[in-house]
Amino acid sequence: MPDTLNELPAPDADARAHGERVSARICDEIDRAGGRIPFARYMELALYAPGLGYYSAGSVKLGEAGDFVTAPEISPLFAFCLARPCRPVLASMDGGEILEFGAGSGALACGLLEELERLGALPARYAIVELSADLRARQRERLRECVPRLLDRVVWLEGLPETPLRGMILANEVLDAMPVHRVVRGPDGWRELYVRRAETGGFAYAPGPLSEPRLQERLAAILAELGEESFPEGHVLEINLASERWVAAVGAAFARGVILLADYGGPRREYYHPERRAGTLRCFYRHRAHGDALILPGLQDITADVEFTALAEAAVGVGLEVAGYTTQAYFLLGGGLMEWEQRLAQAPAPERVRLAQQIRRLTLPGEMGERFKILALSRGFDAPLPGLSFRDERGRL
Ligand SMILES: C[S@@+](CC[C@H](N)C(=O)[O-])C[C@H]1O[C@@H](n2cnc3c(N)ncnc32)[C@H](O)[C@@H]1O
Repeated sequence: MPDTLNELPAPDADARAHGERVSARICDEIDRAGGRIPFARYMELALYAPGLGYYSAGSVKLGEAGDFVTAPEISPLFAFCLARPCRPVLASMDGGEILEFGAGSGALACGLLEELERLGALPARYAIVELSADLRARQRERLRECVPRLLDRVVWLEGLPETPLRGMILANEVLDAMPVHRVVRGPDGWRELYVRRAETGGFAYAPGPLSEPRLQERLAAILAELGEESFPEGHVLEINLASERWVAAVGAAFARGVILLADYGGPRREYYHPERRAGTLRCFYRHRAHGDALILPGLQDITADVEFTALAEAAVGVGLEVAGYTTQAYFLLGGGLMEWEQRLAQAPAPERVRLAQQIRRLTLPGEMGERFKILALSRGFDAPLPGLSFRDERGRL
């Protein structure tokens, strides 16, 4: 939409040229597919086309100079608290490992390794699976700066390890960056949103039949729970098949321990609330949020909230237990916030103000406190998990 484009800061000439290369790649695929591709494929190309997509190419992305910030970027408190559930899991086994998916700038890996070292609970190995070559290089650099003595424990893997993992698997804001299908309630039933070339240049939506049988099954589960009448004509929903498949694959390659998934989102009933008429898709460009995913391909982040009920079902389907589900605010409160605040009491006054602001951003309901959730899945580990047992909200899933 030109209106949205006009409200955003203008990309510079290099960024515009890059955006044109990404558009050309997407147009090429649309032409080869006969005129349209599912929105999920458009999102995958815009974010991950090798060397071109938003996450694959070299823009700053995370942090104040990029497009968005995540909890580990906002404050070291997040890693400090995440170390608490890692400690008992790693202590319960010899040679337990941590595997982090989508490690972004490396902030969480640095904070976790520092805190686990302090707690005397380091993993035998800290593995990272990262799709983006650019981010892999930045992670290595950041770890070299902040924990050079621990760098020999860190490895980058191309995918899931061949030997089923024992320890912790972590994914913070990774599932919300996976491509989603979009479906819309049309006059004669549900249709999928595809992307085609627009007559005036750029891209446009085109409704079509559901592209995968699994979408029909997921839609049926949503309608059974919320009622067909909740969704009038024009209502748009996102369905994230990639995240369910990811949970199933990760669960199948997991021997023992805990998987922690942290993301914006909620249970099915809230996620597909009838008032969310346009779904949850959001784009971020230089810290401005908007809803038009068809502009600035390759230059902006595209994300959709995570439906945690679907993840829990996928996990149970591969024999994992749902060990905990709570909001970020309760996770931090039950997992070390008090201890963190006591430490801060010794900091100089200006530093204390800055740190207090970080705590507010992570915990207030209008910020990340309630909208951000933590889901714990386990196999062969049933001791209480610090942070997750403080307020157990599994009944809402
Ligand atoms: C929004 S960023 C979050 C980065 C980091 N976890 C943080 O919290 O700052 C999303 C990250 O997920 C990665 N990603 C997306 N899908 C992935 C997948 N299937 N496997 C591994 N990484 C993935 C992206 O490359 C990117 O690093």
